[in-house]
Amino acid sequence: MTASEPLLRADHLVKRYEGAAGSPTLTILDDVSLTVDRGESIAIVGPSGSGKSTLLNLIGTLDAPTSGEIRLGGQRIDSLPPARSAALRRDRFGFIFQMHHLLPQCTALENVLIPTLAPGAAGRGATAAQRARDLLAEVGLADRLHHRPGQLSGGECQRIAVVRALINGPDVILADEPTGSLDAASAEEVWEILARLSREKRAALIVVTHAAALAEKMDRTLNLRAGRLIEGAAPGAVR
Ligand SMILES: Nc1ncnc2c1ncn2[C@@H]1O[C@H](COP(=O)(O)OP(=O)(O)O)[C@@H](O)[C@H]1O
Ligand SMILES: [Mg+2]
Repeated sequence: MTASEPLLRADHLVKRYEGAAGSPTLTILDDVSLTVDRGESIAIVGPSGSGKSTLLNLIGTLDAPTSGEIRLGGQRIDSLPPARSAALRRDRFGFIFQMHHLLPQCTALENVLIPTLAPGAAGRGATAAQRARDLLAEVGLADRLHHRPGQLSGGECQRIAVVRALINGPDVILADEPTGSLDAASAEEVWEILARLSREKRAALIVVTHAAALAEKMDRTLNLRAGRLIEGAAPGAVR
């Protein structure tokens, strides 16, 4: 990796789905390129069905591009064997989805510790528990460590999901409509937490949303239209 190499780069990504017999091939992503550096946050904005989740899943190695290349720290990650991509996701990516996907029978603290229990995960045991407590305190949940999801608000649950995504010290945080099911005030709070923590931890943050107003909290906005990325605010974006 050279000094000028960005943390993450995607080059000329194409994603196509072959139609069933007689139906046309769908081109979802058409020559998409982007770079993200440590401590930088970008929002990817586009209408429903524009391919935002598809792009995020390619970057997070959950799906493979039809063509194009993705590099993390200079290393190709777009065509790894499944065991390698699983280890990469565990060690270098943090994922946040629209639904918090917390385990209902586990406390806030236990939910945050789950990624540290994966075989091969770096920090375990007492240090992981301390890190989890510190991070939960950083998102204002120091007095909710032993609450279960059912005893917490939607915004609080999503803050726990943010901490869970950070617990293994990821290089890249990927968030897909992370506040899509929250009210405006809780959504704003979660976005501010995401932006602040990713900057402090020197992680790259890529957030996908259809809400342009929230996207303004990120360093850069990229617009996905008809399978192509355009830098800057889109005319008539959803607010
Ligand atoms: N497995 C699949 N097979 C065929 N088409 C798909 C598949 N997954 C997603 N698509 C299509 O890709 C497009 C983009 O989907 P998605 O990335 O989920 O959009 P967004 O997240 O922006 O709402 C949609 O038109 C969807 O129907
Ligand atoms: Mg989506």
